[in-house]
Amino acid sequence: MGKYSDVYIAKTMQGLEEVLAKELKDLGACRIKPGRRMVEFSGGMNIVYKANYWLRTALRILVPIRSFRAIDEHQLYTETKAINWEKYLSLQHTFSVDSVIFSKYFNHSHYVALKVKDAIVDQFREKNGRRPSVNSKDPDIKINIHINIDRCTISLDSSGESLHKRGYRVDQHKTPLNEVLAAGLIMLSGWDKKTNFLDPMCGSGTFLIEAAMISRNIPPGYYRKKYSFMNWLDYDPELYKDIQVSPYSKQYKPKILGKDISFHAIATARENIRRADLMSSISLEVGSFETTGAPWISGFIIINPPYGERIKVAAIGKLYKTIGDHLKKEFPGYKAWIFSSNFEALKQIGLRPTVKKILFNGPLECKFMGFEMYEGSK
Ligand SMILES: C[S@@+](CC[C@H](N)C(=O)[O-])C[C@H]1O[C@@H](n2cnc3c(N)ncnc32)[C@H](O)[C@@H]1O
Repeated sequence: MGKYSDVYIAKTMQGLEEVLAKELKDLGACRIKPGRRMVEFSGGMNIVYKANYWLRTALRILVPIRSFRAIDEHQLYTETKAINWEKYLSLQHTFSVDSVIFSKYFNHSHYVALKVKDAIVDQFREKNGRRPSVNSKDPDIKINIHINIDRCTISLDSSGESLHKRGYRVDQHKTPLNEVLAAGLIMLSGWDKKTNFLDPMCGSGTFLIEAAMISRNIPPGYYRKKYSFMNWLDYDPELYKDIQVSPYSKQYKPKILGKDISFHAIATARENIRRADLMSSISLEVGSFETTGAPWISGFIIINPPYGERIKVAAIGKLYKTIGDHLKKEFPGYKAWIFSSNFEALKQIGLRPTVKKILFNGPLECKFMGFEMYEGSK
């Protein structure tokens, strides 16, 4: 392996691997190989920068620097210390170590991270008499150790903060969707970027903002100020400037409308949309879905209704039944998608889905169901 491996890893959420692989292909990456909650790819440092800036469904991009076998802490320490850390870190940098372990040989991921940190710090101290400091909150250089049985891979995390932190969200509405998940659901649905888009339970507006960014080719990194790779010793600002040119040729401007029964939710969505500078692309209204008529002859609807953690079981079933009835009555000609973890309540929708997918919202297993609405659909 040279300074960096030529196989990189884009981490994602379960169920979004194929969408991410497609995104990587569009970016010009090669040797794309989807795995479990991740996709491997190759292509050179410009692809690493591009991946951070352009991928909507990646959580972070790891660049492996060394792989080795180890079955105890001593081996792990020795192999880690054998890496020439001055190629990646200086005394002025702060750093942190994250660990992900699937191994019978190592059971404490925190301890593994500590061993890696010790090996780095000891190497610096022996060579220089001084050592770089650890900063677990906002480190300059983020190091990741992944152990699968006895196969250890040490990577640099080129992203730093998770890529779902786009930089437009200001106010936390109660249950906002993760931005990577919202973008992934829109892309999984097959929305064509041109059809008018309605989220009638928009909460803080995550679907609306991600849809506007997708249709208008606004990169997910547009609002973000920093990535960890910008602190690397070989960071190339010119290359970073070059990769900001859009790889996509077309922009679309469909109408994008968000509604919510809660005044507070709409105020939050408005603030997020304002921060994203998308006020002219997205309309908002306060109002219940039950009283919402079809705003256009045909269109695309995506709904992330309450899952019922805070609402009584009977009431949540009734809400889902109302959603199904209202879709059927008012929205012929529309495609509708519903995302929820409440499988019992989903049965109350009373419409036959044409597509069904399983994904996770944090720890919650969710169904993402697509419906074609036509006159008399049931
Ligand atoms: C799970 S949250 C949506 C979160 C949103 N996707 C986001 O990223 O912030 C569900 C939303 O549905 C709204 N809601 C509940 N019942 C509604 C109804 N009958 N009509 C319209 N909105 C409703 C709630 O106010 C809440 O904001």
